[in-house]
Order: sequence, then C-alpha cells, then structure tokens
Amino acid sequence: MPIEPFALERWMTTWETRVRYDLAESGIQPLSVNELLALEPDPQASLQALLATRLGYSEARGTAELRGLIAGLYRDAEPDEVLVTTGAIEANFLLFHVLLRPGDHVVAVAPAYQQLHSVPRAIGAEVTFWQLRPENHFRYDLDELERLVTLRTRMLVVNTPHNPTGATLSQAELERVYRIAEQAGAWLLSDEAYRWLELPGREPLAGPARDLGPRAISVGTLSKPFGLPGLRIGWLVAPAEVAAACWGLRDYLTLSPGKLNDVLAVVALRHRDRLIDRARAIAARNLAALERWIQEREGLVDWVPPRGGLLGLLRYHLDVPSRELADRLAAEASVMLAPGSAFGLERHLRIGLGAEPGHFAEGLALVARFLEDLASQRRPAR
Ligand SMILES: Cc1ncc(COP(=O)(O)O)c(C=O)c1O
Repeated sequence: MPIEPFALERWMTTWETRVRYDLAESGIQPLSVNELLALEPDPQASLQALLATRLGYSEARGTAELRGLIAGLYRDAEPDEVLVTTGAIEANFLLFHVLLRPGDHVVAVAPAYQQLHSVPRAIGAEVTFWQLRPENHFRYDLDELERLVTLRTRMLVVNTPHNPTGATLSQAELERVYRIAEQAGAWLLSDEAYRWLELPGREPLAGPARDLGPRAISVGTLSKPFGLPGLRIGWLVAPAEVAAACWGLRDYLTLSPGKLNDVLAVVALRHRDRLIDRARAIAARNLAALERWIQEREGLVDWVPPRGGLLGLLRYHLDVPSRELADRLAAEASVMLAPGSAFGLERHLRIGLGAEPGHFAEGLALVARFLEDLASQRRPAR
C-alpha cells in the first residue's frame, strides 16, 4: 500500500527534541501518572492496585469496564459498539480499511489531519475535499457539501472541533451533515478528537455524531481533552457489526490496548469532568494571551479565531514560505509553530493552545521578536 509521507509528523520529529518551546503541539500539557492518580479518593491504594496489575495480554477490545465507561459518553451506545484502539489514529485507520474499497468516493474536510485524506487515498478511494477557506472565516459550507456528495459517495469525513483551524459544526449543522450522508447511503465518520474542548465566549459544541443515527460513527481519544496522549488510548463507537469488523482487522495489528494503559484510562474517565476543566482552563488562558499578542502585532499577523478545540492558524504578512519560516523559527528562536504547508495552506502557521501558560507566553515573546526582526530585515533573534 503506497502511502504519502505524513508531512506534519515528519516535520514535528525533525524539531521536537531540539527546541525549547513546542507551540506546534496539538494537545494539552500532559499529566504525570502521579497527577492522574492524585484524582482518586485514595491515591496510595490506587497506586498499589496499579503496581499489582499482572502484565498479561489485556482484553482485546478494551476491558468491559473501560468500554462501559466509553459507551456512557454516547446516547444509547452499548459496550459491544465500542472498540478501544491505540489512539484515535488507529480507530480512523481501521474504519477506513473496513468501510472503503478502491474506487469508492469519499468527501473529507480540508485542510485536515493528514490521515483523513492519505489513508483513504492509499486504499484507492477518490477523495473530494470539502474545503474550509480563510476568506470564508473557515466556516463549514453546508450548501457546498450538498453539491459534493453524490449517490456514489461511500463516506463523509468530518472533524469538529477541527484540526488545524478550530472550526466547529453546530448541533444543527452536524445534524444536516448526517442527513446528507444518510440520504446518499454513505457513512459519516466524525473524528471527535477535540470533543469537549469549548473555548470561552463561543457557541456550545455539538454532541457526538454517533447519537444521530445508524450511519454515524464517532472516534474519540484521551489524547487531547484529557491530556494523556502517552496512554495511546482512543476508541470508535459504531454499529456493532462495524466495531466487530474493526476488531477483526486489529487482530493483525496491535491486538489489544496495553494493560496498564487500560487501567489508567478507566481512572481518567472516572474523573472526566476535572480533566476536561483543566484542559479548558489552560486553553482559555493561552487564548486570551494570544489574542492580545495578535492585536499588538496588527499588520504582521492576524487570524480567524478558533471556535473550539486547541488549535488555530496564524496568518503572517511576510514574503517567506511557511516551511522555511517554521524551520527558521525552530532553528533560530527555538520555537515550533507548524508550517501551514503541511496542510496545503501557505502563509499560515498552526499554533496550539495547550502548553503550560507561562511557557506559552515565553515562547510567544520569542516568536514576536523573531517576526519583528524579520519584518524589519534585521538579523533574526537567537
Ligand atoms: C483530528 C485528529 N484526529 C486524530 C488524531 C490522533 O490522535 P491520537 O493521539 O488519539 O491517536 C489527532 C492527533 O493530533 C488529530 O488531530
């Protein structure tokens, strides 16, 4: 299966161990195991239980307890409709392979987390982009979607809140997307990696797509809202036969979640509200700091403010390609902002709102110095 290189991942791995400020990161400042266990009523007892865990193979679909907790995040979902996966990335990968065949037509939001395009294409599907455009303030255009979907369309792929723009579908819009998919006889795959991550002052986020009907599939993860990407715990919630087919494919891939990861995921889901509050608080502080920072640099940078999630795109007014600018920022100012070129969008840099706020502010100050020096043709700051 020839597959395109994952441009953003390749770029991130070039720099992430070499810079001081990774503001390109797509998640929230991760928790330590200690911090996670401290949420428990008796952290010492929870630690002892963790240490006593026997490291055999875990239940292949995820433990019944974990699947039960995940099912509880959706209206009327049953544990048999849940498959715990190695991150949302594995859930998407399995779904594409189980549901798509060469020649199938897919409509997918663009720009996007590259997996959502490259894997369907590698399978041989024809992918039509449902484009979010800066000139349209990165709004989902539902009328355009109606025109793109045909009776040949096998799957519609959305992501809300969206990576990399922070665009969101409202509840009414998501319901319309579902109806469009249903009328075409297509699947709706909704990547909800950024579920629950509301930003202050924005309209409420839509509920999960899976609640809308039998053609909808939701993908979720502990990576972004819970600050636990290192657990590599994600999931899909789909009709039981689709979940079972994904399980069948996963038998050849990762077999089961890691045993300790499953145990810690149960802890995380039991304290969901506190973890999500923590993530929202970090994102809100960084968003406020960033909005001030942008206002102070009128003419140099602007943006379409994100409506949800943890990511946004900064547009800069310098005549430098985004990859070159991102490389120089990393090499000369020790700050990572992801190049828009990784999303097919020039003159933009993606920024994440998830870093520890003090660290975030320090990184922003370095970016400001670097861009201002570059704009005035002076030697960039070191
Ligand atoms: C939209 C989207 N989907 C899926 C993933 C994969 O996340 P996970 O860590 O759960 O595999 C990411 C990670 O950045 C993402 O942004």
